[in-house]
Amino acid sequence: MMTKFLRDKIAFLLTGVMLAVLLISCQPVPVAESQSPKATPTTATFPPVASPDGELSAAPAKLPPLPYDYTALGKAIDAETMKLHHDGHHASYVNNLNDALKQESGLQKSSVEALLRDLNSVPENIRTKVRNNGGGHLNHTIFWQIMSPEGGGEPTGEIAQEINRTFGGFDEFKKQFNQAGGDRFGSGWVWLVRNPAGQLQIVTTANQDNPIMDGAYPIMGNDVWEHAYYLRYRNRRAEYLNNWWNVVNWPEINRRSQVSLQLAS
Ligand SMILES: [Fe+2]
Repeated sequence: MMTKFLRDKIAFLLTGVMLAVLLISCQPVPVAESQSPKATPTTATFPPVASPDGELSAAPAKLPPLPYDYTALGKAIDAETMKLHHDGHHASYVNNLNDALKQESGLQKSSVEALLRDLNSVPENIRTKVRNNGGGHLNHTIFWQIMSPEGGGEPTGEIAQEINRTFGGFDEFKKQFNQAGGDRFGSGWVWLVRNPAGQLQIVTTANQDNPIMDGAYPIMGNDVWEHAYYLRYRNRRAEYLNNWWNVVNWPEINRRSQVSLQLAS
């Protein structure tokens, strides 16, 4: 037989437990991380695209010096083309971008890459100008670095192995890259990118668009605008695409590929 003392003790304990449960249930519940689909990575999470030094300033944009002499890439590109391309075309993209942004001091605080990733934040009246000239500035800044007077030959390092795994060998990769560059109608670029799923992929872009506008990281790219080859190769784009491999800077492309892995991590 349970004594009255024991019944009172059990009732007291049960009341305490119920009060504790009530108190706990009133506490705010921690909110789980959103499981919504990933948006295009923000500036804070997108790995540096223009160079190891970081993103391109728009306050104001500046023409980077060519990292070698105009004659240095003669195995593929003549000196006159290099001079016109860098001092003329690239300089124009920089000047035109600064001209577009001169009335938009708020936008000058963004990097060129951030503007291209979020063109909807750019007023409509200057959006196309920012897209074309910001893209032109970024694309050419990358282009000068992924070529070298000591370039060419077979790829080395991690990128060589990944190219083999993805495309079945360097020759097949070159063939597909050249084909895509040749098939790009009008003016544009052919790229090897790391796509948002973390895979290597060959893509082309029109005009001066850059793959970051689609959330992909540009590892290497070739300029197939006529201004890139017409003086020496005339209308023979395929010959230019083929010779271009003689100046490809594999150490820099390996570095970019390693940086691009942050996109998928
Ligand atoms: Fe160009």
